[in-house]
Amino acid sequence: MDIAEALPSRFEGQTIVIVGASSGIGAATAAIVAREGGRVVGVARRPDVLELAIKSLPGSGHLPLALDATDPAAVTQALASLPDTHKSINGAVFCAGPHLLRPLRITTAQHYADMFKQHVLSVTNFVPGLTKLAAEGTSLVLVSSAARFRGGSAAGAYIAAKSAMVGLVRAWACELAPKIRVNSVSPGVVRSAMGDRLLTTVGPKGAEEIERRHLLGIGRPEQVAPAIAFLLSDQANWITGVDLPVDGGFAIQA
Ligand SMILES: NC(=O)c1ccc[n+]([C@@H]2O[C@H](COP(=O)([O-])OP(=O)(O)OC[C@H]3O[C@@H](n4cnc5c(N)ncnc54)[C@H](OP(=O)(O)O)[C@@H]3O)[C@@H](O)[C@H]2O)c1
Repeated sequence: MDIAEALPSRFEGQTIVIVGASSGIGAATAAIVAREGGRVVGVARRPDVLELAIKSLPGSGHLPLALDATDPAAVTQALASLPDTHKSINGAVFCAGPHLLRPLRITTAQHYADMFKQHVLSVTNFVPGLTKLAAEGTSLVLVSSAARFRGGSAAGAYIAAKSAMVGLVRAWACELAPKIRVNSVSPGVVRSAMGDRLLTTVGPKGAEEIERRHLLGIGRPEQVAPAIAFLLSDQANWITGVDLPVDGGFAIQA
């Protein structure tokens, strides 16, 4: 059998919105969706980087949407001006938003608000509009973080925002069933632009400690994306409201 025939095509004819498609976990997820026949609507702020990432995807019909997901007007306008070919949505993945390492004593209300803007509003800006475009069986996948299971010094604002995402998952899973499923994944540290920044910021000792806490070592975006693709796909059609750790054993360590 031809190797291409042996590959699954879980997203054939589907349109999947990926917020954060130009880098890291989002780009790795976009690659799977495109390889398996889906059309990717890729969202990120930097148009040139996004354009390149979308052009590199296999298949056809992919669409770059350069916008800031924290800007509600930009999101509303972009969803309203989707071409007819992309107006029926089968899934969406939310994986934008930075880390913040900042001790409690110097974390201000503005820092907390900014983390919520980046991780929560970047999702809530999309979801009401997306539900209007959602086909039967649509799947939403939010990317939280395994940091929320174990805590971590200087990470309060980030962890609070990532925990809030999981609250949304449960609330929306109830509200949107049976037409739309809503789940999340909680990754451990992976070597993406964001992960590399974190590992550099904590220095060699800190990085060693983070690595030690991952039983299977630091991960790669390509090790998280298959879990997202599974939750997006019809293979997970009886799964809603769950958060799946994809963290190399980080969360279970004492
Ligand atoms: N990396 C890790 O170790 C790790 C661990 C646990 C959880 N996570 C979570 O996983 C998600 C993805 O992280 P990653 O490591 O893949 O990050 P990454 O490599 O830095 O990629 C982030 C992506 O999001 C886009 N983006 C950022 N802010 C945006 C905004 N306001 N509007 C639209 N697009 C935006 C970026 O493009 P532009 O900059 O051009 O906008 C880029 O495409 C994040 O939510 C992160 O918190 C990451």
